[in-house]
Amino acid sequence: MGFPTVRMRRMRRNKLIRRMVRETHLSVDDFVYPMFVQHGDGIVQEVPSMPGVYRYSVDMLLKAVEEVIELGIPAILLFGIPEHKDEFASEAYAEDGIVQTAVRQIKGSFGGDIVVITDVCLCGYTSHGHCGIVSEDGTVLNDATLDVLVKVALSHAAAGADIVAPSDMMDGRIKAIRSALDGDGFENVLIMSYAAKMASSFYGPFREAAESAPQFGDRRSYQMDYANRREAMRELSLDIEEGADIVMIKPALAYLDVIHQARNLFDVPIAAYNVSGEYAMVKAAAMNGWLSEKDIAIEILTAIKRAGADIIITYFAKDAASWLSER
Ligand code: PBG
Repeated sequence: MGFPTVRMRRMRRNKLIRRMVRETHLSVDDFVYPMFVQHGDGIVQEVPSMPGVYRYSVDMLLKAVEEVIELGIPAILLFGIPEHKDEFASEAYAEDGIVQTAVRQIKGSFGGDIVVITDVCLCGYTSHGHCGIVSEDGTVLNDATLDVLVKVALSHAAAGADIVAPSDMMDGRIKAIRSALDGDGFENVLIMSYAAKMASSFYGPFREAAESAPQFGDRRSYQMDYANRREAMRELSLDIEEGADIVMIKPALAYLDVIHQARNLFDVPIAAYNVSGEYAMVKAAAMNGWLSEKDIAIEILTAIKRAGADIIITYFAKDAASWLSER
């Protein structure tokens, strides 16, 4: 049966009919809002390459989290900027480290009203800016890094994190972190693994925000070659086997095929990270009047969900939450 019996345009005739046949519905429940915390008092400092995104001191972060809760966003993803960096990333697992302090205060103030996810990685805390321990010849050491990552994850759990999110791309870290968490009585802390994380140029603005750019070389010996989709499926299935509760694909917009294939292959919740560069591109174009920020952001987020993501980590979370509530 074809034209003229079938007329696809009948289903696009008006807004209400379009609403009835719409397949993908974006909701505030889908969002995770990434936030940056640093030492100090009264600090609210905008990230130059990410207009509308700020670095907060803990006191100001609490106010900002309150706003996130009021908008109905279920979770935040926390990144810390330490006071001092060293070769071993010691501030990453310090009991009074910036993330540990922030988590304790957020949980103390808001308890179960917000899910706190912490990024578990070393790059923001190492003097060389790599995501692991570096040997004398400049190699990023896998197994030596696992010990440190475990300490970071345990310190976040002890501070009250609901979910730890390792973003380092070392092999075997999910298994190591899961067994350490279970061994210390944190069997209810979830792991959201940055499972298929590409060595991407889309992280540029984030590295400015987190002061985490590598001081030599690049991350291509641990983050994935973005040309590889089959390898991404192997990374995802290994992390699921090792005990990840939620697996993430990152970046999102240029990787919808990866998200879609993962959705078809795996039954675990899939998260997609709409990263800093994706945000910055939209902001820059919008500030020039070249496109409509709201329409583009909603279209991008809907496409990420349509591809198969259950959870979307996005700097647009707050704006999108208010745009959705006015529709
Ligand atoms: C840390 C980390 C990065 C991002 C999240 N965690 C940067 C990187 O790997 O260099 C990027 C997030 C973004 O671009 O929004 N490893």
